[in-house]
Amino acid sequence: MKNKKVIFMVAIVLVTLFASTGCQPAAPTAAPATEAPTAAPVKELKGLTVGFIQTGTEGAWRAANTADFKETATARGINLKFYDAQNKLENQISAFSGFIADKVDVIILSPLETKGFDAVLQAAKDAKIPVVLQDRRLDTSEDMYAFLIGSDMVEEGRKAGKEMCKLLEGSTNKNVVEIQGNVGSSPQIDRGKGFREGIADCGITITQSQTGNWSTTEAKAVMEAWLKQSTDIQGVFAQNDEEGLGAIQAIEEAGLKPGVDIKVISVDATKGGFQAMIDGKLNVVVECNPLLANQIFDMLDKYLKGEQVPKYTPSQEGVFYPDNAAEVLPTRKY
Ligand code: AHR
Repeated sequence: MKNKKVIFMVAIVLVTLFASTGCQPAAPTAAPATEAPTAAPVKELKGLTVGFIQTGTEGAWRAANTADFKETATARGINLKFYDAQNKLENQISAFSGFIADKVDVIILSPLETKGFDAVLQAAKDAKIPVVLQDRRLDTSEDMYAFLIGSDMVEEGRKAGKEMCKLLEGSTNKNVVEIQGNVGSSPQIDRGKGFREGIADCGITITQSQTGNWSTTEAKAVMEAWLKQSTDIQGVFAQNDEEGLGAIQAIEEAGLKPGVDIKVISVDATKGGFQAMIDGKLNVVVECNPLLANQIFDMLDKYLKGEQVPKYTPSQEGVFYPDNAAEVLPTRKY
């Protein structure tokens, strides 16, 4: 009885001692472990490492988009790892895998085509690396990316179509050719769709449609070939300004007046597009905004803090005409 009392007292002293010194007896191995919280820690934009996968350097729009992201990232203290895919889908996909292997915090992608990214998107998801789409959409399930900010390309095409209807009102023939962007990209698909919607009720026929790959040289060659077949063309819808400039050159070399004999509409609203309007060679330009970096980083900030963000935010864009192009040109940033 006396021994039991002693053992009991010793036990109490030991327990008190452990408690007061902060020491804890080792947890019994069979006891259930408390799981560490699995939610990703809230991250600050400053100091974040972001892998940015660009399409290439195909024109003034893209140059402005790239410069905007590089400058904005520097200004906001973001470590931007920039990759130029030189307009090759396979380069974009291998850069994506490389950024996952490098364990970047976020990947920003401007996809060259709407398809082909499923495997790398899944790999990013498994690695818990958020993917942000800028400028262009993907044909994929919405849970494969955090959010998209970019132009409503269908609406851009629709605007161009409606403007072409106005330009060709009263014309006996209404034959229009379309110079497309790179085949399989969302602007090529969506601007083409929107343009057809825009011209649906005004008697225009699209007589030719081919890619110019966003390039002045390629677009010029395409337009030259068409003009050799027939000059019965009243309008050109070029899916970007560079292509519009190429078509203008071909029209002039065929002895015709661009903007007068053949109406020309393009998309982007670059300084080159504005100059062509001032020169009377381009009739309308539909704006596509490349200056998306601040909007993307603001949204990313919210996303990383766990706030609800919209899956898609369209850019606000206008339409420009020759009558005030000289006044507007000095205000253009790209
Ligand atoms: O995705 C935007 C398009 O890509 C621009 O209209 C074109 O110029 C660019 O290359």
